[in-house]
Amino acid sequence: MNKGKKYHDDTKYVREKMKSRFLDWSKKPKDFKQYLHPLKVIPLKKTKLGGPPIFDIMAKRRSIRDYSITPISYEELSTLIWSVSGITGKYGDHFFRTTPSAGGLYPVEIYIMVNRVKELEKGLYHVDVKENQLEMIKKGSFGKLLSRAALDQELIERSAVSFIFTAIFERSIWKYEDRAFRYIYMDAGHIGQNLYLAATALGLGCCTIGAFFDDEVNDILSIEKEKEIAIYLAAIGKYR
Ligand SMILES: Cc1cc2nc3c(=O)[nH]c(=O)nc-3n(C[C@H](O)[C@H](O)[C@H](O)COP(=O)(O)O)c2cc1C
Repeated sequence: MNKGKKYHDDTKYVREKMKSRFLDWSKKPKDFKQYLHPLKVIPLKKTKLGGPPIFDIMAKRRSIRDYSITPISYEELSTLIWSVSGITGKYGDHFFRTTPSAGGLYPVEIYIMVNRVKELEKGLYHVDVKENQLEMIKKGSFGKLLSRAALDQELIERSAVSFIFTAIFERSIWKYEDRAFRYIYMDAGHIGQNLYLAATALGLGCCTIGAFFDDEVNDILSIEKEKEIAIYLAAIGKYR
């Protein structure tokens, strides 16, 4: 049987076999990732609300793979990041975001590979969602390397910025056990669509990417593969 179908079958909820679940709150994984020693920390700009009507944006959205060499602005980048991880609400100690997440566990982390963004050095950055800032983790040009890791898809090298979405899967496994990966991918889908819509509203081209050599992307980020894995990419740039 196809392995994906087997996973789906193995993790079905079946009424007669449904167990009651005990949640050990003392073992809840940390909600936010923050680097202890980033190379640099840069605050993100506040997003301006408003803009074109949502239904017009949905009708216009398309995957765009050809980008000009014009850089995007830091405001535009900040808005794109807000669309995938912006905090929009608080209930007690719990934060809510622009995207929905199963159980409000937010297993997806966001990294960006900067090629051409005004006021921002080329490099790899992690988004510190809690503090609404970027943490520089590696300095330099990573376009070629990330393109190569994405099965030689050159749109990444041409992009102004590429997003790398990873999952800290323990955040979801804590509650959903074997079913967690279903929800992690659903979360990533919502994030991808928000990014597409935000890019379209800003007049930028976006294309999400599922085809990549997993461990090459994990290695570019130097993440601990036993805890965190790359699951989805997206390239963004000005229209050509
Ligand atoms: C999960 C997923 C993975 C994708 N992977 C790639 C990819 O690796 N390379 C690519 O060029 N486009 C990729 N795409 C974009 C699709 O090809 C595109 O959405 C589809 O052709 C429909 O076109 P549209 O987005 O312009 O409506 C992906 C889209 C999704 C949702």
